[in-house]
This record gives sequence, C-alpha cells and structure tokens, in this order.
Amino acid sequence: MSIKEQIELIIQEVKQQIGLLSSMNELNEMKAKYLGKSSPFGHLMSQMKTLSNEEKPIFGQTVNEGKSVIADMFEQTKALLEQKAIEAKLSNETVDVTLPGVKFSLGSKHILSKTIEEIEDLFIGMGYSVKEGPEIEKDLYNFEMLNLPKGHPARDMQDTFYITEETLLRTHTSPVQVRTMLETGGNKPIKIICPGKVYRRDDDDLTHSHQFTQIEALVVDKDVTLADLKGTLLVLAQKMFGEERKIRLRPSYFPFTEPSVEVDVSCGQCGGKGCSMCKHTGWIEILGAGMVNNAVLEASGYDSSQYQGFALGMGIERIAILKYGIDDIRAFYTNDLRFNRQFK
Ligand code: PHE
Repeated sequence: MSIKEQIELIIQEVKQQIGLLSSMNELNEMKAKYLGKSSPFGHLMSQMKTLSNEEKPIFGQTVNEGKSVIADMFEQTKALLEQKAIEAKLSNETVDVTLPGVKFSLGSKHILSKTIEEIEDLFIGMGYSVKEGPEIEKDLYNFEMLNLPKGHPARDMQDTFYITEETLLRTHTSPVQVRTMLETGGNKPIKIICPGKVYRRDDDDLTHSHQFTQIEALVVDKDVTLADLKGTLLVLAQKMFGEERKIRLRPSYFPFTEPSVEVDVSCGQCGGKGCSMCKHTGWIEILGAGMVNNAVLEASGYDSSQYQGFALGMGIERIAILKYGIDDIRAFYTNDLRFNRQFK
C-alpha cells in the first residue's frame, strides 16, 4: 500500500469517528491518539529511515499534509463542540418571563389598629395631639383624682383588677387626663386624645372582654362649652358612621364630668325608624362624655373659674362592632385570620 493510501485510510478512520464525539474530553483523547507520539503518523515516520535520500522529503511532506488535514478536522470539531456547549449553557439559563412570579402574602393591619388610626387622624386634623399613659396605674390617677375617692359607689361601675391596694390595671383611659393636666401645670390649654388598652374584671362573652381598648379625648381651655363638645361629637359620629347620621345626648352620670352625657348615634340600619339593631329606639349608644368636673380641674391644678374642659371616652371595639357588624367581641383577640382578612 502506498504511503498516500495509508494516510487516506487514517483520514477516513478519523472522519468516521470524529462525528460521534460529544465532549471536549473525548476530542482531546482522540487528538492524542491520532497526532500524539504513538499515533499512526509516528509509526509512518519510523519507516523514514528505510527510504533513500530522494524519497525522504516527499515522504515527509506527504505525512505532514495528512497530519494537517487531520489537525484541521480536529480544529473544526473543537469549534463545533464549543458552540454547542455555549448553546446548551444559554438554554439552561433561559428565563421565561411569562411564567407566573412568586406570590408573597401581605399581612394587613388589625381592624382595631385601623379604627384607632382613623379616629386619631380625625382628631389630629382638628389640632389634637396623641398621648399615652401606663396600663399599670395608680389608684390615685385612675380613681381618686377623677373625683372617685375610696369607697365611692361609682367605683363599682368598673370592676377593677387590683395589683396592690394603690396600684391597679387601669379601668379606663381617663387617668391620662389627670397625668396630662398635672404635667401642663394648670396654666396652659390642652387638646389631647389618648388611645390604649384598659382592663375590667368581666367574664368574657359576646359583648364583654376583660381587656379592651378605649380612646379618650380631653380639651381644657378658657371658654370651652358644651356646644364645643356637641360639635366635636357630631363630627366624630359622622366621620365614623356616615354623613347622614345624627347624634343625641342623654343626661348621664360620671363622677369626673358635670354635666355628663351618654351619646347616641342614629341607627344606620333603619335610619332612625326603629329596628332590631337599635332595639326599636332608632338610636344606638356609642360613648360617654361631659364637661370636666370642676373638682377634677382643681385637683390637677387648674383654676376652674378660668378654665373649663370637655372629655369623652369611647370603646374602640364598640365603634368597630357597630361599624362593621361584628357579632362577637372576642373575634378581635383570637387572631383568626379569616376574621382579620375581611378588613384588608
Ligand atoms: N372613662 C369613662 C369610662 O370608661 C368614659 C368617659 C370618659 C366618660 C370621659 C366621660 C368623659 O366609662
């Protein structure tokens, strides 16, 4: 077999195998086999020494040409494999922007927080500032300075969790009034609201909870009248329940206000005609209020011949119950997500 025929055979062999390669590793192995030291070309070259001087260069050239044909084939295959590797990588990393995204479930504010914020916004808009006080309170501020001395029968209206004889869990937000008046020193006007938790020794049921939430409002200034209180109550009722609502004041009794009133809002279900919701009266009670009792002003350092004030206190749960038709006060505290999500 001539040298050309032998080389042609090698080339054919490489051609057959090279198409089957699928990785660079395989390619490198094959390259070593056909172009390395113990390759068929190496074997051919070892025949060189048996040739004459004239034949040698032609032989060498022929072998080298064969080698370079094969080297070209390897180069082409290498480029092809590299291209394929890039394509595979790209298709692996492809992002399908039409796939649905990852869903995050957003929480939402509790309805009590929302209602407090709504009331705060309203009052802040009328120039009030927000004050807070401690939930563990002195008997002095919760009762005595609010004109409820020890043994006063009206203390029974608010069944109290006592911690010691002189400290208790506040039964209402009114002690923040006292604290603020004392802080202010008896000679400056006051316009505050105080939201917060309060505690009473009640058995929990549909309408009672041993812990609930109140907002108190207090205004102290010269020339404050019951008409100011009434105007404020109307704005509050209409903002919380709707522009069409009316209010009604009924005489009531709180030791810390004089006169005291119970505030009703016209029933939203029947528009005041009477229905089961308003127990056929057309009115629903929403809060207590009154003109700050002179005794309370004086005890906190205000001269009641110069200063007057009004105060109101409401249960946030009650407002939310009426506004959203909630039938069990315990729903506010049990954190059933089905309840919470309704107000998202
Ligand atoms: N502190 C009273 C209560 O909890 C409510 C109230 C506040 C009444 C202010 C009048 C004035 O029942």
